[in-house]
Amino acid sequence: MIHSSFYIWLLIISELFILTRTLDQKGEIRNVKLAPCQLCRTLVESFKMGMEKTEKGNFEGGDSAWEEEKRLVYAKSEVRFVEIQERLCSDVERGQTHCQSTAELWEHHLENWWNHHQDKDLYDWLCIEIVEDCCPINHYGSSCLPCLGYPDSVCSGNGRCKGNGTRKGNGECKCDNGYDGALCDKCATGFYVSYQDETKLLCSKCHISCDGACTLAGPKVFYIISGCLKCKNGWLMSSEGGCLDIDECISESGNYPCSNQQFCVNKDGSYTCLACDPTCDGCYGDGPDMCNKCAPGYILKDNLCVDGPSWDSQGAGQTTRYITYLGLCVATFIIFQKNPMIASIIGIMVGIYITVSEYMLDTGTVHKLLSFLSAL
Ligand SMILES: *[C@@H]1O[C@H](CO)[C@@H](O)[C@H](O)[C@H]1NC(C)=O
Repeated sequence: MIHSSFYIWLLIISELFILTRTLDQKGEIRNVKLAPCQLCRTLVESFKMGMEKTEKGNFEGGDSAWEEEKRLVYAKSEVRFVEIQERLCSDVERGQTHCQSTAELWEHHLENWWNHHQDKDLYDWLCIEIVEDCCPINHYGSSCLPCLGYPDSVCSGNGRCKGNGTRKGNGECKCDNGYDGALCDKCATGFYVSYQDETKLLCSKCHISCDGACTLAGPKVFYIISGCLKCKNGWLMSSEGGCLDIDECISESGNYPCSNQQFCVNKDGSYTCLACDPTCDGCYGDGPDMCNKCAPGYILKDNLCVDGPSWDSQGAGQTTRYITYLGLCVATFIIFQKNPMIASIIGIMVGIYITVSEYMLDTGTVHKLLSFLSAL
């Protein structure tokens, strides 16, 4: 009883803990402060959402001329504006609090747009012209200067302009991975020009065998990859100009890189050592059919190293065993002459003993047991 109620309490407390944490996180997201231009954009998006929601007004069907006129009046009415204003920012998650306080602050701007400037886009009018927190696309900074490469190829199409669309930033290019230069019009180290015309530059990654720069990707002729100016460790510059993978598993110095109980697998630019099958004493691959020699206790059978009942092959061991059995039988017989009752019990035990020990020898269990003990 005590236990189950304890667990129920534990469950309730952890549930509450998780609940308050998610609420906390939601609160945190709501209370995030937004950057100026992002704040204005968020507010405008919410306002536009409100316009969409009130587009049809509260009019139900009906297409009489009178209904139509009522709808037109509503579309530009103060009533609709108030409806939008009331729900402004309620659909915003990130920065909702910031959005709401700013909505109050800018109410007169919004009203001004509603009454006099609906011919202009709200974002352009409010965020760029009036509050001056944003710039047009591909412009940056306090006076909305054009980004590098404007208008046709800002950052050559291979990077982002710092401050793009806001009153912040310095207009410099932050190049995408693989590109370099003030205008992102060069390939970064480790990349080569894979396509170029007057307007477009494409850079692609050099082959993995290259240490640093390369001139081109291929052509991949058989196993030769040309284009690297230098080869990485594990690769050798060939006379044809490509980097060739070094097969560490057959290194010329004769130094086999793996231990006796491992075999070597060559990889591009490197190698790995993997453990031999436990039936092997040294091997050249994975599995009991790739042993150099069989491990102690195993014999070669059909090219496989298998459990060897090695005692059976040792004649001496076999003879001793049979003599022991014979002795036991003789002893049982002698006892039988004096007390048949006890002798038959002993006889059964001897029978079990012989059966069990023969069975264990046959499956090699004894040998395994012995080798296990000697390993200790
Ligand atoms: C600038 O911003 C616009 C709109 O967010 C985007 O479409 C454009 O790709 C950006 N350009 C650069 C160069 O960052």
